[in-house]
Formats: sequence, structure tokens, C-alpha cells
Amino acid sequence: MHLAPKTLRDYLVLPNLPKATPLRLSHVQLTNILTTAWRHRDVKLQAALYEHANDITTRFFGNKVYYRGLIEFSNICENKCSYCGINKDATVKTRYLMPIREVLEVANWAEANNIQNIMLQSGEVRTPARIKYLEALIRAIRQETSLTISLSVGELAEYDYQRLYDAGARRYLIRIETSNPDLYAKLHPEPMSWHKRVECLKTLQSIGYMLGTGIMVGLPGQTLEDLANDILFFNKIGANMIGMGPYIPQPNTPAAGMWKEINPMTDKKSYLRAMFELTTLMNALTRITLANANISATTALQAIEPRGREIALQRGANVVMPILTPTKYREAYQLYEGKPCITDTAAQCQGCLGKRLVSVEKQEASNEVGDPLNFYESITPLDVTTQTLF
Ligand code: 5AD
Repeated sequence: MHLAPKTLRDYLVLPNLPKATPLRLSHVQLTNILTTAWRHRDVKLQAALYEHANDITTRFFGNKVYYRGLIEFSNICENKCSYCGINKDATVKTRYLMPIREVLEVANWAEANNIQNIMLQSGEVRTPARIKYLEALIRAIRQETSLTISLSVGELAEYDYQRLYDAGARRYLIRIETSNPDLYAKLHPEPMSWHKRVECLKTLQSIGYMLGTGIMVGLPGQTLEDLANDILFFNKIGANMIGMGPYIPQPNTPAAGMWKEINPMTDKKSYLRAMFELTTLMNALTRITLANANISATTALQAIEPRGREIALQRGANVVMPILTPTKYREAYQLYEGKPCITDTAAQCQGCLGKRLVSVEKQEASNEVGDPLNFYESITPLDVTTQTLF
């Protein structure tokens, strides 16, 4: 009798694979898995991957989910990333920089509400005045609270990264956006360059930051081979935190035009739905190969599917980022269309997230620092690269 495959072990013809074992997979294997599970819509393989990923997440984190309170403190940007709704050329209602005092109020609120980690995010500005602002802000937060500070403020000089580390920042998130340098070049006009971005990642690591990176899924011209390479890139660079979100075409940006040209007949809604599935599959494969890194259930997933973040938490993710940005600034920080929660307050976002976690039997790891485990201990995944899968 032919039994339908149930677990990844059955599926991948790895009969002796213990539960929750991280795997080292080759580029061909990753591409094949993405092709079979996503392009050919093999829902059984999808389910087996999600289950294996969730077993690994549970092995390392139990049912605990780490929070990173997101404070989008400025939407002023010097870059012209062609997909982004706040790029230098984009028409935005107002360009703002939150006064230090206001950011501090949010930080204090976070601490009072058991959120131990905050992420300071903004558009990219490299002026000495901005570095001074950041330095003062980080020092003030460190003085008034015991929060762990992550930064997501883009490409800076090594000297400035060091200054911000010395001021007290300990984690840094900068997405590679795609591991394909040619695709990167199509989306980021000069003087931006893929190699420069990789240099930034390495510099941050050498200074001692816990390193976050990530990509967008569904970029115009991106292939499944690219996505397989993205996963290998995270492994190779040794990322401690990964954030992956679906690319959402933002009207009036050059990338949205490119997207339309490549997909002239495609209905945007069904495209995004497909990208939702592909993104969570990428989360699962990243968990299966990276084992004990932090993986974020990104807000962009929720822009497509109201339960997007909860679903991602069942498919490999273990971090969520409640938005703490004061409501009056939120509308001006729309990187993409349909960004959720723009009329909410920080308290509403925290309360809502808590309920969402319960719905998938997860729990906020309150008052925990939640450092990425692979910053301290790397796991060697089981090497199955020479095996024939399926
Ligand atoms: N769709 C989805 N994600 C986007 N980002 C920027 N623009 C978009 C978009 N249109 C992501 C980028 C960036 C992060 C802050 O937001 O990956 O690194």
C-alpha cells in the first residue's frame, strides 16, 4: 500500500532523519524544493516543510516569541531605492525627524510595557548632524532604560558604525534585498552598489554587532534560483537575524513600473497572495538551514493577509516587531501600499499582537533580551547535500 508522505523525513527520502534536525541543503536542492512546493503547488511538501521548520523553532525557542518594538523615527532619505515609498524622489505628505525627547518617551513606554528591545529605523541620512543625533539618542535611551537597541539606519562609514556601537547599540539590521548583484543594480541606481552593501554587513559584524539582514520576495525579475541563493547567502554571511517580506508594488515608484511591464496580465492581488506563500516557504527553509537564528514575521506579510504574521510564526519565524511609532507619523512612513496599523497606537499594536500570538499557541517572551542564539553558539546542520531528495 502506498502511504501518503507526512513528514519531511518521508518526503525527502531521509528515513533516519531525527525530528527537528537542521539541514544543509545545496543550491540545486533548495531550488528544487521551491519549484516543487511553490511553483507546482505541492501542498503536502509545503506542509512537511512547515512542520519541520516549526519543530526546529520549538526546539530552540519553545513557544516564545521575541518582540522588537519598531520606532520609525524619520522618513527623510538620501537613497533612491526604486521600490520604496519613501525614497528621495517619492512624494510624501511630510518628511519628519522625531525630536529626541519624543523617541525617548516611546522607549520608556516600551520598557514600562515589558518590551525589552527596540529597533530604531529611518531612511538613510549620512550627515554628521544625523550621526550626532543618533549618538545622543542611543546614549539617552541607555541612560533612561535598560533596553537593548537595534538600529536600521542604512549604509554608514565604519567610523560611524563604531561610534553608534560605542554609544550602546548592539544589533544592526540592513537587508541585502537580493543576493543577486545584477538584480540589485537594476533596483538601486548608482552610487548604491551590492558590493558596498555586503561590505557594510561585514564591517558591522567585525565591530561586534549582532547582524540582521534579509530580502524581498517577488521583486521584478527575481527567480527561484535567486531565492535559493538568498538562503545560502544568509548562511554564508552568518546572519543572526533574518527579515523577509513580500515585495509590494508601490504606485508611482520605478519598480512598480518594472513589475507591471514584466507581469502585464497579472492581477496584483493574486500575485501578492502567491508571494505570501513563497515568503513563508522561504522563512521555513531559512529556519531549516539556519537553525537557531532569529527570523522575523514581517509586517509586509500582514499587508497581504490579515493573519500573515501569525502564520509566519508557525512556519519558522520567532520574532515580531510591534510598531511603536507615534500614530501622527505613521502615514508618512508608508514604504508600501496597504501597510497595516497606520491609525493605531503603540498600546493597540501591543495588545492586538498578544491576542494574535495566543491564537497560534505562542507567547510573548516578555522581559527577555532574546539575543539571537547563533551569535553565541553555531549549530552544524546535517549535511544532506550529496543525497538525492524526493
Ligand atoms: N514592498 C515591500 N518591502 C519594502 N521595503 C521597502 N519598500 C518595500 C516594498 N515596496 C522593505 C525593504 C527595506 C525595508 C525597510 O522595507 O526591504 O529594507
